[in-house]
Amino acid sequence: MSAEIFAVVNQFKLEIENASPSTKDEVEQFRIRFVGSKNVLKPLFGEIRNVENERKKEYGQLVNAVKGAAEAKFQLLKDAVESAVEEASSQDMDLSAPPEPMSLGAHHPVSITMNQIIDVFARIGFVVAEDREIEDDWHNFTAMNTPEDHPARDMQDTFYLKNSIQMLLRTHTSSVQSRVMTRQTPPIRIIAPGRVYRNETISARSHCQFHQVEGLYVDENVSFADMKQTLLYFAQEVYGADTKIRLRPSYFPFTEPSAEMDVWLGVETEKARKLTKGTGWLEVLGCGMVDPNVLDNCGIDSKKYTGFAFGIGIERSAMQKYDIGDIRLLFENDVRFLKQFTSAI
Ligand code: PHE
Repeated sequence: MSAEIFAVVNQFKLEIENASPSTKDEVEQFRIRFVGSKNVLKPLFGEIRNVENERKKEYGQLVNAVKGAAEAKFQLLKDAVESAVEEASSQDMDLSAPPEPMSLGAHHPVSITMNQIIDVFARIGFVVAEDREIEDDWHNFTAMNTPEDHPARDMQDTFYLKNSIQMLLRTHTSSVQSRVMTRQTPPIRIIAPGRVYRNETISARSHCQFHQVEGLYVDENVSFADMKQTLLYFAQEVYGADTKIRLRPSYFPFTEPSAEMDVWLGVETEKARKLTKGTGWLEVLGCGMVDPNVLDNCGIDSKKYTGFAFGIGIERSAMQKYDIGDIRLLFENDVRFLKQFTSAI
């Protein structure tokens, strides 16, 4: 009696070992016969009660082994069939078919404007310097000759880090000046682009984050005339070869004397009148001779060296250049807005 049952199991074992289904259907047949919920091996487990006691263990192990072999073989067959199907479908690929249209990325208008400014100064030997946005009070204010009671330090303007009056989000890229001057000796000729933060109410005209490009030139005998010539060159590169500039006296704690540079756009076109509010002059940047205190604070001998610095706001330039009416558009990253700059460089 028991020998017969063993024979049946062994018969299935052989069948499983020899099976070589090649099509999906044949594999499915194999699955139904040996692995599916009504497979032929299932009833064999119950047959153990007809096996004499001393062979029960041997029988149990055999049936289990056959079941395991069936499952393993099915897994192999299934994988083989699936990869064959995949291969066949990739062979069906039409290599001459036109590709899906590729969507072109675009540079952000702020990046475009910033890169243009960097390029202009790189041509006359300014190198890019970058530094941290989370700054300490010393590099952002104290080193830059901004006294304790200066309004720029007011909590209204500056984002201080939680639980700290020492760490803040830099309010201007002038912090890069002190960073560079404390670790480098003149000649220094850097251009520092970057993001800055001020605690201002967000509106169409102002934002709590924006970008600046800072310039710094420190060497022996650097004069106000050098600054003026450098800024004239910049204005003519950006606004056209005939562009005129003027420097208006101004105030910054870190420069003395300080000035504001305007470029002459004229009043002929509607756009020029609008940008200059009818005056013809467009305010472009703040600048000045580096205050000797700043040099000394940063360990540079102010008796030997002089320098000039300037800071250009990027958003306003970008908005003028592309006729963008709301600064918030520059920070929303709406692809419908950004896509319009695909062809810009
Ligand atoms: N840091 C000044 C600002 O944020 C700009 C500036 C830079 C002015 C360098 C003079 C020299 O307004």
